[in-house]
Amino acid sequence: MVGYILQSLQGTLKTATVTDGAICVVLLLSLIFILVIQNGSISTTHKQLRHLRRLGLSASNMVDQYDPKYDTPEGTTTEGPVRIKAICVHPIKSCGRIELNRALLTKTGFMYDRCFALATEPGKNNPAMESKWRFISQRTKPTMSQIQTELWLPHKGSHQHDPLVQAGGCVVVSFPDPDAPGWLDCLEKFLHTGNPFATPEVQFVVPLEPTPAMINEYKIPFKTFGIHGRDARGLDMGTIPSVAAALPKLKRYLRIAPDQGLTLLRCTPETLVRTDKNLAPLEHIGTPSVHGYTDQQPININNLSSVHAVSALLPTENQPLNAFRFRANLWITGAPAFDEESWKRYRILPKGRDAEPRADVAPTVSVVCRTSRCTMPNVNPETGVPSADNPAPEKKRGKPQPSATLVEYRTVENGNKSALGYIGMHCVPEDRPLQLAEEQGKGLYIAVGDEIEVLERGEHLYGSTGNDY
Ligand SMILES: *[C@@H]1O[C@H](CO)[C@@H](O)[C@H](O)[C@H]1NC(C)=O
Ligand SMILES: *[C@@H]1O[C@H](CO)[C@@H](O)[C@H](O)[C@H]1NC(C)=O
Repeated sequence: MVGYILQSLQGTLKTATVTDGAICVVLLLSLIFILVIQNGSISTTHKQLRHLRRLGLSASNMVDQYDPKYDTPEGTTTEGPVRIKAICVHPIKSCGRIELNRALLTKTGFMYDRCFALATEPGKNNPAMESKWRFISQRTKPTMSQIQTELWLPHKGSHQHDPLVQAGGCVVVSFPDPDAPGWLDCLEKFLHTGNPFATPEVQFVVPLEPTPAMINEYKIPFKTFGIHGRDARGLDMGTIPSVAAALPKLKRYLRIAPDQGLTLLRCTPETLVRTDKNLAPLEHIGTPSVHGYTDQQPININNLSSVHAVSALLPTENQPLNAFRFRANLWITGAPAFDEESWKRYRILPKGRDAEPRADVAPTVSVVCRTSRCTMPNVNPETGVPSADNPAPEKKRGKPQPSATLVEYRTVENGNKSALGYIGMHCVPEDRPLQLAEEQGKGLYIAVGDEIEVLERGEHLYGSTGNDY
């Protein structure tokens, strides 16, 4: 078709006026634009998603997170209920978050939270290291914060023959292209975004729950890999063609040595494990707590006023403190700072506006311990660059922030000797409301605007509960 147009263009140019020539050039350019828009990698991804619908908010519920109305210092009293302000899931451990207005609570935490993890294998040229796959995180790879994820799920009208519909939907992963982009990539990005300076991105599609047919076709094996001190297991998604094609670029983006392996693991019902420290009493939670790839417990809750309280303690150049550095699932407002630290159990009353049906049950949650912090909150989620304060005159480098401040002001207990301060609480869903919801044949959802009722208060000391029942 392009050949035909070129031919007729030549013919026309011989005889036609300058105006006609200009029209032909415009026609030819439009044709190139259409070809790029229709066949570029962005459109190829979009075509794969045609039977799915994107889950997630276009505008964050946290846009006003820095508003002084959320300053409720420690020890003050607040009027009105404690409410859920925002809900986040992170489908790939240590990568971008997805904010939701409602999320399904399961025994292992929120649906789609940390159900994938990236892992590397030590390089073959590095015999000193044990040859074992291990998860990677922003602690050593801060640019993982720039790997964005989108959740695309089937809907009522979805075609059942679409393999991604059969797989329960997919995660679309995108990250900045580490290689010098070709002019076609730049043109495509420009045509889609309207921004001539937009960084070209690599995008790939990961089926959410590989079907037995996919596992068979792509020979997806189970792989064991380390998460901190424990062995985790999962399906090695690196054999799926869309994933395999993107992994070499992802390796270059994360600056992983060429001789090292990199893959994406998927947690499955068979690979869930019991949590092994800070155990909740069985009389409340029913059966022992299990999780996939979270560091420690199924749910993490944090209080926006607590973040404001820490922000006020930071050097001015590090203010305001972005709450998203703490990667909580639930953000609450309306409670004084650090009030959550005395909660032992709470109930979430379904008060928020939620147009979709949900079980008429209030989820109850046991709070097991404070969240002991590592260096990860130092990574600025917007840039992927670790933050530090302005160095003292005699020093070359500033202190990492907010870690330095959390260590100084938020070492409120000594349960974990290596903690870099504590903020946020780990929680475990209790079985009873999950069972009641199942009896009603509906999902146990938590929605933005729901109210929190504290059922029990007490002391918390990290590690004080046994590591065995
Ligand atoms: C949230 O934090 C504020 C200020 O730090 C505190 O006053 C409040 O009690 C906390 N609320 C809850 C529910 O923890
Ligand atoms: C204690 O805190 C450090 C730093 O956050 C963390 O790496 C370690 O896993 C924690 N230890 C336990 C037993 O949870």
